[in-house]
Amino acid sequence: MSQVIGYEKVDDIAVLSARNPPVNALGVDVRRGLLSGIERAEADGARAVLIYGEGRTYFAGADIREFGKPPQEPGLPALCNRIEASPLLVVSALHGTALGGGLEVALSCHYRIAVPSAKVGLPEVNLGIIPGAGGTQRLPRIIGVEAALDMITTGRHVRAAEALEMGVLDKIGEGDPREVGLAYTRALLAANTPRRPICEMPTPEPIDFDARYEAVLKKGRGQLSPAVAVRAVQAACEADDFASGLVRERELFTELMASDQRKGLIHAFFAERAVSKLPELQGVVPRDLHQIGVIGGGTMGAGIATSALLAGLPVVLLEMTPEAAKAAQARIASNLAGAVKRGKLSQSDHDDILQNRLELALDYDALQNVDLVIEAVFEDMEVKKQVFAQLDAVCKGGAVLATNTSYLDINEIAALTRRPDDVIGLHFFSPAHVMKLLEVVVADRTAPEVVATGFALGKRLGKTAVRAGVCDGFIGNRILSAYRTCADHMVLDGASPYQIDAALTAFGFAMGPFAVSDLAGLDIGWAARKRKRAAGLDPRARDSFYADKLCEGGYFGQKTGKGYYVYETGRRGGVPNPEVMPLIEAERAAQGISARGFTDDEIVRRYMVAMVNEAARVIGEGIARRPLDVDVTLIYGYGFPRYWGGPLKWADLQGLPNLLDDIRRWSEEDPYFWQPAPLLEQLVAEGRSFDDLNKDG
Ligand code: 3HC
Ligand code: NAI
Repeated sequence: MSQVIGYEKVDDIAVLSARNPPVNALGVDVRRGLLSGIERAEADGARAVLIYGEGRTYFAGADIREFGKPPQEPGLPALCNRIEASPLLVVSALHGTALGGGLEVALSCHYRIAVPSAKVGLPEVNLGIIPGAGGTQRLPRIIGVEAALDMITTGRHVRAAEALEMGVLDKIGEGDPREVGLAYTRALLAANTPRRPICEMPTPEPIDFDARYEAVLKKGRGQLSPAVAVRAVQAACEADDFASGLVRERELFTELMASDQRKGLIHAFFAERAVSKLPELQGVVPRDLHQIGVIGGGTMGAGIATSALLAGLPVVLLEMTPEAAKAAQARIASNLAGAVKRGKLSQSDHDDILQNRLELALDYDALQNVDLVIEAVFEDMEVKKQVFAQLDAVCKGGAVLATNTSYLDINEIAALTRRPDDVIGLHFFSPAHVMKLLEVVVADRTAPEVVATGFALGKRLGKTAVRAGVCDGFIGNRILSAYRTCADHMVLDGASPYQIDAALTAFGFAMGPFAVSDLAGLDIGWAARKRKRAAGLDPRARDSFYADKLCEGGYFGQKTGKGYYVYETGRRGGVPNPEVMPLIEAERAAQGISARGFTDDEIVRRYMVAMVNEAARVIGEGIARRPLDVDVTLIYGYGFPRYWGGPLKWADLQGLPNLLDDIRRWSEEDPYFWQPAPLLEQLVAEGRSFDDLNKDG
């Protein structure tokens, strides 16, 4: 008797129920249980088999923890074939999320019913693989190539109603999955409905697969799995028979399983779930959040308020003047209108939010009852201090006082209040109602339940929250500053900003660093350079002034129509600004540098090594707890290609000794910038990897 697959006979129906919490993953015991359940049903005089999941879901997929380990019998493909070949009528009743191998098991059944809230999908490409248990062969046979490619190459979760319309499901039934499944199976038996194995259905109509392969590869910015999935679906149309199609699917699946991209994506999957699990928060209860306050309704404040309102939290937004308050309201209204347009918010909820849930205020007294307040005023310590002094005076005891500062010292802000335990950094990314990352910045005195409240807020807002410590730039902006400096050095030495952007987008970044600067506003970098120069640069640090000249000319990037690129309305992206290269050449001449050529590989290597080295410092200093915290930060906040798993997974895949060798070699030309991080040296000396540190916890 299987522990994880229950067996019962209800009249002439054998009922197999999955009991493998939390998500009924199809690990080896589940596969064995299903196989013996089918065999037992066939020997037990049953006419039909019903498969469903207990707990929160039907099978959510293969057990990802088994990937990369030696396979154990029965394999999922063989199990699916066996289910499909059963002489009994096999039915699945779906609820929760029937994903990946889960949906493949359902597709090997002869009929599928689901409860209305169920979702189905083949998200394997997001893990760097393709469906490997017949999904690429069976799905196109029942819904056609186009619809199957849409599901398989995007990995999207499809709601039951749409899945019914597409033909993935045969029926939707309200109620408990067991009862719904039993009623449906009884009805099928009563009508003498024949078995309906998908493998016996005709091959689907082909499309131009070569063109689709190229298009999907381009869209994935170098991610292989969606494009390889196109080839697997092609086999469904072109292979001699169903069995040969399965063989081709398996070959492609096996190749991807061995790839670095698969390793990177699986790392990302587990890392994003591990970031919120902090040992010090075990058992710590977050404070209740019923209403929040936001101070400053500019770019960030309006985005943060939008995010909270969309999550159902009422917001009091404080601005300086009636005009500023009106402008903030307009920004929020425009964000919400966008949500309505994208189908994320109903018109009536939109109206309700603006009329009843958003309160605009000019007086701090309006913040007396909020449970948490996030300050997003100008990035100026004096202004922040004034704001926190007022918050300290008016907010109720136990209210969490948060700052969205990008760089400023939160300990200094906290020390100014009588309640430093309640002060925390909640660093959102722009646009705050869209970007997924939230750095929860823990200051010296921040109380554990305030940290827990920060994480709880992040979860409520649908963000991925990462714990960071206080330093200039926390995790993300601090590391950004290092790799951005490396890019500036390469420009001085001979690479163009356009070559650098192109090399890094080819590596998989959403955008190159110079296009990002144009998007964020060149004035931000200008202010940072001035701040650093005023504080006194180390005499060994390299500096350059050509970017200042762009700003002095009034070119702040996208918002002024010109920066490194020129932007024309109605056109996506920009074209290189012809004024930039002469400024760079003049700077090189002024510094006596003769430009040299860079290969794209060298550009990527230097940029990445600068990132990894600074990340190692950030971990060594305890600003980030674990390498995976850095990986998630860069993926969610900085457009780092997820399929590399984050910069430190990338580093592990390259081999840390190789990276340290590069740093030592480059330090001969610039010993100030290329100083190896002590943690990197230590890991190399001990023969360990960043992932080993993740495992240490
Ligand atoms: N294998 C192993 N563990 C899994 C898992 C899986 N397929 N799916 C989820 N888990 C684990 C998570 O790691 C987490 O563990 P933890 O509590 O120790 O951190 C726990 O289950 C709960 O998961 P979530 O926190 O993600 O729970 P949610 O309710 O937020 O989401 C979910 C549930 C939508 C099912 C989500 O977990 C998910 O998307 N899982 C992955 C689904 C997937 O990709 N399936 C395809 C697998 S590949 C495959 O099937 C190959 C086949 O074609 C051969
Ligand atoms: P912004 O200039 O767009 O908005 C600031 C708003 O604060 C203005 O509307 C202003 O009227 C208001 N304000 C200023 N002083 C105030 C006061 N005393 N009381 C009430 N309102 C006041 O600035 P932005 O870009 O929204 O930045 C705000 C904060 O968020 C800064 O600390 C910044 O470093 C940080 N941040 C900015 C990011 C970005 O990409 N813009 C990203 C992450 C953090």
